Amino acid sequence: MDEKADIAIIGGSGIYDLSWFDNVRQVDIDTPFGKPSDEITIGEYGDRTVCFLPRHDAGHRISPTQLNSRANIFALKKLGVKRIISASAVGSLKNEISPLDLVIPNQIYDRTKSRTSTFFEEGIVVHAGFADPFCPELSETITDIARSKGYNVHDSGTYVCIEGPQFSTRAESSVYQSLGFDVIGMTALPEVKLAREAEICYTMIATVTDYDVWKEQDVDIATVIENTRKNVNAVKDIVSDAIEKIPLERDCVCKNALEGAIITNHNMVPY
Ligand code: ADE
Repeated sequence: MDEKADIAIIGGSGIYDLSWFDNVRQVDIDTPFGKPSDEITIGEYGDRTVCFLPRHDAGHRISPTQLNSRANIFALKKLGVKRIISASAVGSLKNEISPLDLVIPNQIYDRTKSRTSTFFEEGIVVHAGFADPFCPELSETITDIARSKGYNVHDSGTYVCIEGPQFSTRAESSVYQSLGFDVIGMTALPEVKLAREAEICYTMIATVTDYDVWKEQDVDIATVIENTRKNVNAVKDIVSDAIEKIPLERDCVCKNALEGAIITNHNMVPY
């Protein structure tokens, strides 16, 4: 792979204008898990090489359950990516988190049902630490930038990831609220787990679009799309600043996530 990139942006719906990158080119990458969601756009921003992957493909043809996250993360790893900044629409489960606010989650709760969430199969057993799923260093950088620019940003929160593609029932939404979760979405997993296994730092700018189904108006896709669009400029504004401020070297647990985590030892197999 001739092309290299240092920082990746994975965008949900609506963040496809990359006119702020210089020297833009597209790469078509193959992986042992198949093709990523779309071609990856690479470009320069200041003195960093960055890349962009539209999570659902540019035509939004891939539903959350069908996302090939293994191919997506593997392709980024092949490019040499060390950090991922993801943008993702979420519903709010709390009064104090309003539509158009930004949340930088620090925890995640897995309610997905049918997604493969590891790279390691076929005789290799790996138990990577995942107590803090999002990179604290990268999340702090993003939070500080968002705050300094005056956005309504929440610096932590638990993201509950549901299987979808249907939105939640009122009973489910109410249980998630009673468990103290902050935001709800469909796309963060298994992406975050796979990034950890790939030793790539991962942070998310969760853009709040709705109050799920527990407040005055039930979530619908038109509202999600409309409010996601309203936040596109905020995401760009924060990410472009972050690209310049992210240090070249990493000082976090993510970069050594596999140290001591691979337990397969053929001498111990009892047959
Ligand atoms: N994405 C945006 N809003 C959502 C919601 N309420 N539930 C699940 N995913 C979402």
